[in-house]
Amino acid sequence: MLPLNSLPRYLVSIVRRNSNGFPSEAIHSPDARFGMSRRSHLARLRQQSPLILPSVLSCDFSDMRGEVERLETAGVQALHLDVMDGNFVPNITYGMPIVAAFRKLTQLPLDVHLMIENPERYIRQFYEAGADIITVHEEATGIDTANVLQEIKNLGCGAGVTINPDIPVERVLPFVDTADLILVMSVNAGFGGQTFNPVALEKLEALRKVGPPELLLEVDGGVNLETVQACTEAGADLLVIGSAIFNQSDYGAAIDQLYRSAQVST
Ligand code: DX5
Ligand code: ZN
Repeated sequence: MLPLNSLPRYLVSIVRRNSNGFPSEAIHSPDARFGMSRRSHLARLRQQSPLILPSVLSCDFSDMRGEVERLETAGVQALHLDVMDGNFVPNITYGMPIVAAFRKLTQLPLDVHLMIENPERYIRQFYEAGADIITVHEEATGIDTANVLQEIKNLGCGAGVTINPDIPVERVLPFVDTADLILVMSVNAGFGGQTFNPVALEKLEALRKVGPPELLLEVDGGVNLETVQACTEAGADLLVIGSAIFNQSDYGAAIDQLYRSAQVST
């Protein structure tokens, strides 16, 4: 058998999963990267938490390949992709083609944050573009949010739900058992580089108390060297970080320093 370090990263994870009882045919399937295997990223992310997910909104889009390589070299375990429609939020970023382009450039899990009105209309398209986790805003869904989460799961993706800082945490409490991930926004969705709103900390603490241990809690917006530790102490598993990484010339050093600051003090 080939040594694991001679295999591409995604095959290594499939082989490892198989030794833990993942169906062996998945190894031989050309679609092993797709379908149910996408949900298996969730357990790994949970195991490795706290994890820093770069928000590529702030990356250099004229050099996506180089940016992805630099992030992989820095040891990043997943990427956070912000989709904005100029309607639910005032800003416009990118849609399915850019998600698909990242999919071609990396085997890292893609965590897609949809800041769009009626996200249920586009779930399948983002799945086809290669999203591994799809998160929708509860304020933006046009149908029952539980149905949207179920649809995301049925496609084999991780299902996330989120709310803006001014929306009370009660609006996502009904989903603690059905969502794979709850994203707590610590800025108003729409732009990178905003100031962290501490209301997110109370929400994280409340969700950590009532949610099952397997529920992934993610925080997004204004997370930096000053705010990251409060987030992990409040129970965040996934730390979405844009400017505090991309404003630095050495992503690896920036991420290492953020990890050190994120350590929960005992
Ligand atoms: C804001 C986005 C964030 C943002 C984070 O609407 O969801 O992911 O890019 O960027 P920073 O870390 O700069 O606040
Ligand atoms: Zn985001």
